[in-house]
Amino acid sequence: MTLGTHGEAGLERGRVDLQRYGHALMGTYGEPMRVLARGEGSWVWDADGNRYLDLLGGIAVNALGHAHPAWVAAIAHQAATLAQASNFFATEPQIRLAERLLELAHAPHGSRVFLCNSGTEANEAAFKMARKTGKRTVIALEGGFHGRSMGALSMTHKDAIRAPFAPLLDTVVFVPRDDEAALRAAATEHAADLAAIIVEPIQGESGVRPLAQGFLAAARELTRRYDALLIMDEVQTGVARTGAWFAHQLYGIQPDVMTLAKGLGGGFPVGAVLAFGERVGSLLAKGDHGTTFGGNALAAAAANATLDVIEAEHLLDHAKAVGEHLRAGLEALDGVVEVRGAGLMLGVGLAAPVSAQVAQAAVAAGFIVNPPSPDTIRLVPALTLTTAEADLFIAWMAEHGTRITTEGTTA
Ligand SMILES: Cc1ncc(COP(=O)(O)O)c(C=O)c1O
Repeated sequence: MTLGTHGEAGLERGRVDLQRYGHALMGTYGEPMRVLARGEGSWVWDADGNRYLDLLGGIAVNALGHAHPAWVAAIAHQAATLAQASNFFATEPQIRLAERLLELAHAPHGSRVFLCNSGTEANEAAFKMARKTGKRTVIALEGGFHGRSMGALSMTHKDAIRAPFAPLLDTVVFVPRDDEAALRAAATEHAADLAAIIVEPIQGESGVRPLAQGFLAAARELTRRYDALLIMDEVQTGVARTGAWFAHQLYGIQPDVMTLAKGLGGGFPVGAVLAFGERVGSLLAKGDHGTTFGGNALAAAAANATLDVIEAEHLLDHAKAVGEHLRAGLEALDGVVEVRGAGLMLGVGLAAPVSAQVAQAAVAAGFIVNPPSPDTIRLVPALTLTTAEADLFIAWMAEHGTRITTEGTTA
């Protein structure tokens, strides 16, 4: 199978569009790599007709791949029926989505859902729930990423994205990932004022790093002991990404609050907050929080279709199997030190800090991947990715990716 032409020569139309982009859009993302025109399954085409195997999936978003017929039909039907009604009114798709999420999360009686539009918004709501406990201190993790709005950014660790917006909320305390002693010390020090501990079960943006079982268990124990909320940010890990509906199920540890977005809408913007149990489910009361678009019928229909297809096509098992296949194929390569993660959320650890060069060469060769940290390539493709498609990337890594890594090691 050939992947088409991707060299500099094949990018004329895209170059013109990128100039227009540069003149019309803010520079928040730097210059985009390509202008993409359409997608189908795990494949996308750029404006010049070149084809790419999409192993980034809109950054863990396109759970069903691009343009899945059932998802397209559900959105088209809902758009032609009722798209947005305001939260002065309820709609059936919104109710069904909330019921479905509670069921998939095995949430106990009295649990409740708040629907929103993005990951950062979901974490803002979780943050406000923490405040509604009457306490203020939140413990977050080094390497954690929770979003770019001011509350979520306050819980995000990376200094480069925090510094320009200081001062942020100073009630957030950071501890190193997997440092149980530091976590216990911070929780004990702030015991009287501890509102929440927030974690990603597998940190995504800092390089696909799963938390140790014992560390997560300690977070659960401490939040119980000090009557604080355990918030799991499953914006990236949730909705079948890891081969389980939610990553906390892999650990067997239920949070008090779970935030979702990314894969939930299969490419349509939608986020959710699940509050486990009666007490947490009623922390945000009438007038405490809201959003115009949150839970609109169109977004809810997209999310319901996404959950339906995941179930009908057995994508939990599929993601697990293809993920294992990718892991085994990549782990066997020279220059790959380890493959971290679960299901189809994988971080390929390279022997040298050359992930940016590898990602760039991959795109030029027709594979979309991304480098979340200097020595990691992240793979978060559609959950429908086939083993044959996975093999194309393994073969490219074997021939080209690892050569870049070897040159980086000896440089
Ligand atoms: C774990 C996690 N939380 C929150 C966010 C923020 O989500 P959004 O970009 O939809 O605001 C992200 C985005 O990458 C994420 O990975």
